[in-house]
Amino acid sequence: MELLLEVSKEMSAEKGTSSLAQTIVNGIAKLTKLKTAAIYSIHGDFLYLEATHPPLPPDFPEHLRRAPLNEHPHIKKAIVSKKPVILPDTKKAALSHAEREVCQQRGLRSILYNPLIYKGKTIGVLIPASVEKIHKFSEDEVSICQTLASHAALSISEAKLFENQQHYLTQIQEKNKSLEQAEKNTAESLKAFRRALLGIVHSMGTLMSKRDNYTAGHQQRVSELSGEIARVLDLEDDRIEGLKLAAKIHDIGKLSIPTEILTKPQKLTDLEFKIIETHPNTGYEILNNIEFPWPIAEIVKQHHEKVDGSGYPDGLTGEDILFEARILCVADVVEAMASHRPYRPALGIDVALDEIWEKRGSLFDPDVVNACMKLFKEEGFQLE
Ligand SMILES: [Fe+2]
Repeated sequence: MELLLEVSKEMSAEKGTSSLAQTIVNGIAKLTKLKTAAIYSIHGDFLYLEATHPPLPPDFPEHLRRAPLNEHPHIKKAIVSKKPVILPDTKKAALSHAEREVCQQRGLRSILYNPLIYKGKTIGVLIPASVEKIHKFSEDEVSICQTLASHAALSISEAKLFENQQHYLTQIQEKNKSLEQAEKNTAESLKAFRRALLGIVHSMGTLMSKRDNYTAGHQQRVSELSGEIARVLDLEDDRIEGLKLAAKIHDIGKLSIPTEILTKPQKLTDLEFKIIETHPNTGYEILNNIEFPWPIAEIVKQHHEKVDGSGYPDGLTGEDILFEARILCVADVVEAMASHRPYRPALGIDVALDEIWEKRGSLFDPDVVNACMKLFKEEGFQLE
């Protein structure tokens, strides 16, 4: 009994299924004082030789390590009946070809087949056997072997469960790792894509400054001012980034307008104004083909729209105008009035702020005007 407890303890200490199978066969050999033992597991219609005592020689035939259940009728009988099966003498018994082969390879003489039963299902067979000499299995011996077999079945099932859990855990960890990598790659591609877009926008700005230096400087300052107004308005960082980008090229449509009109020192004629008014649509056409992660083309198209519908090109009103475009519109007017223009000297920031304050709610979005006033009056913002 003490020996049984000792063997059971050894089994409980094992975590891996293969080392556990070895502990079990060693244990039953010790318990029965027989020279050899083996343990098979069952997977569908196949038997797998998990471990033997003593261990198998390396040249033990592969077809005996993994074999169809039907080729081993005594094992099958123990599995199906769920009861121990005794084979008193292999030399006198009717054996299948595979059984005879195993007996000859291992020198088996008297064999006891103990089914390993877990939750009513046979999961394997534990087989102590004598070598060369006949051994008579007593009732006590069979009973002790059955007790050990039931403990072995439990330990093996728990170990398998543990291994499966570890396996799933590893799979989950690997999946998480590849997800993290994919996210990293996406983030990297997105960064590279944004860098490329910024490069395009920068090149557009350079192109414009070659032609009309005033517009290039104006756009840069409007971009800064738009970003600051948006910050006061608590716009999300990503939208601010898009807005600043749109502002940097908001007058790109002016590329199609003759320089003489853009830099004309005198007041423009009505026809010249009509030509100038085409630039939001031209800008939209230029930018619409580029897939920005923000509605850059739309913001540019709407930057001369006014909340009362008096703007151009579409006479949009109120919230039909993108919020970014409403911000850009105010920043554009303030910068244009505060700075020098080809046809007049700078009017100054105070005149510009008076203008947007006066037209607050009619031409300009009141929230945007408030934010712009706060920026200059309270935060001391200055146009560079
Ligand atoms: Fe404009």
